[in-house]
This record gives sequence, structure tokens and C-alpha cells, in this order.
Amino acid sequence: MKLSSFLYFTYFGIKTILFKKREPILGTVIVTDRCNLHCKHCSVNNITAVMHPYDQIKKEMQLLYDMGVRILFFCGGETFLWKDKDHNLRNLVIEAKHMGFLIVNVVTNGTFPIDLPEANLILLSLDGDKQRHNEIRGNTYDIIMNNIHNATADNICLYMAINKINKDCIRDVCLTARNTKNIRAVSFNFHTPYPDTKELALTKEEKATCCEIISQMMKEGAPVFNLKNAFPYLIENQFPTPCH
Ligand SMILES: C[S@@+](CC[C@H](N)C(=O)[O-])C[C@H]1O[C@@H](n2cnc3c(N)ncnc32)[C@H](O)[C@@H]1O
Ligand code: SF4
Repeated sequence: MKLSSFLYFTYFGIKTILFKKREPILGTVIVTDRCNLHCKHCSVNNITAVMHPYDQIKKEMQLLYDMGVRILFFCGGETFLWKDKDHNLRNLVIEAKHMGFLIVNVVTNGTFPIDLPEANLILLSLDGDKQRHNEIRGNTYDIIMNNIHNATADNICLYMAINKINKDCIRDVCLTARNTKNIRAVSFNFHTPYPDTKELALTKEEKATCCEIISQMMKEGAPVFNLKNAFPYLIENQFPTPCH
């Protein structure tokens, strides 16, 4: 991390902890809800299928920047589908860096070629071993692994939403993160039940078991990008909102 970024985040930490300021540091821009997949656990794809225009996205980015946000996520729908005339996702990432965001991350399903070296992290959804991932996300596992292998930078972090279908695949995904070229880490989250996906939600006991497995994998040296201290909040689903 650059010294200037480190100083900014230190200043933010002091303001938040010592002076109880409640200002945002992290923001997300949804570039489109259009998606090429229809994953079993997802309720937010293709509701409007609108590609938001470049100028509108730029305005939203500026608004977030002016609010003090310095960690920006681009999310979808499928982010790599986004385009507006000559602009594509890579242009958005470069624009965000020019604007002054210190960390710029992209969330993707990984089914398109990954050429985004300017992004700090590409959060790529992998939802289990090949069998469970494909059960949730259609026949995409091999395409994704091939795209990871051919990515132009090693800035990929796997992102797994744990649910009833894939809860026994935590170890597999940890090992994939540890042993695959271009992947730096894995981050875990739990399924958020929407009315049409309630049956995929885990019980508190199941979530606690998953957190034990993740902790064990961390002990064994798996590159897990979660804070152990946050597990009780994840299990209870009790993050204060909005979080600052
Ligand atoms: C909505 S997707 C958008 C980005 C991209 N299409 C992808 O799949 O990564 C962002 C993340 O949300 C996760 N997700 C979707 N529905 C969810 C749910 N009900 N609960 C928890 N995570 C969910 C996905 O697995 C994915 O990792
Ligand atoms: S790829 Fe992402 S946005 Fe598309 S359906 Fe799956 S989780 Fe939803």
C-alpha cells in the first residue's frame, strides 16, 4: 500500500475511533443488473437489465468521493458485461483511480476474460468444488478456472457465498485459493435469504460450524480474507447498519 493511502486510512481510523465520526470510507456502484447467469441463490439479476450510462456512473463516483469514500467497489449484475459506447469496465477502474480512489475493486462471476490489472482486487465468485459450483451457477466452473489461469494480473480474490448447497465445500475453495496461480485469497460470506431463496439459508448452528472450518483452514495457512473477530456478527447476522 502506498504511504499516502496508509496515512489516509490511519487518519480515518483515528477520526472514527477517537472522535466517533460516522463518515463512509467504502462505497459500491452497481454498473448494471444485467447478467449472463441465473444463479440459484441470486435474486438481483436482470430485474431491469439496464446498463447505466458512463456519465451517470461518473457522477455517482464523484458523489461518493466527495462524501469521503476512498474504497470503491464496482458490482452488478455482471460487471464485465458493462459498456457504454467506447467505454468498458477497465475504463471505469482507470477513471476511479484518476479521481483519487485509493482502492478500486471489482466483483465478477469470472466467465469473461480477466484483463483488469489496474484493479486492486477482483472479487471472483467461486461457490464450491466443480459439482456444487455448477449446481448453483450453471456449467461455468471450467470456463472460470481457465479465465483465472489466463488473467493478466495476480489480483484475484475468490468470493464464496455459503448456503445449504455448498456448505461442505469450504475446504475445497480454500485449497483452490492457496494452490491456483493469480489467486491471492478467498473471502467468505453467508447466504442472505430473499423471499425466493429462503430454503438456501443456513441455521446459526450451521454457520457456526462453517466458521470453525474457516478458522481451522486459517490455522493451516489458507489465505482467508475474513476477520475472525467478525464471525460472531456474521453468525448472528447482526452488523449494525449502516456501517461506517
Ligand atoms: C450479485 S453478484 C454480482 C457480481 C457478479 N455477478 C458475481 O456473481 O460475482 C455479487 C455477489 O453476491 C453474491 N450473492 C448473490 N446473491 C446472494 C445472496 N442471496 N446472499 C449472499 N450472497 C449473494 C454472489 O454470489 C456474488 O458473490
Ligand atoms: S453471476 Fe452474480 S449477478 Fe449473475 S446471477 Fe450469479 S450472483 Fe447474480
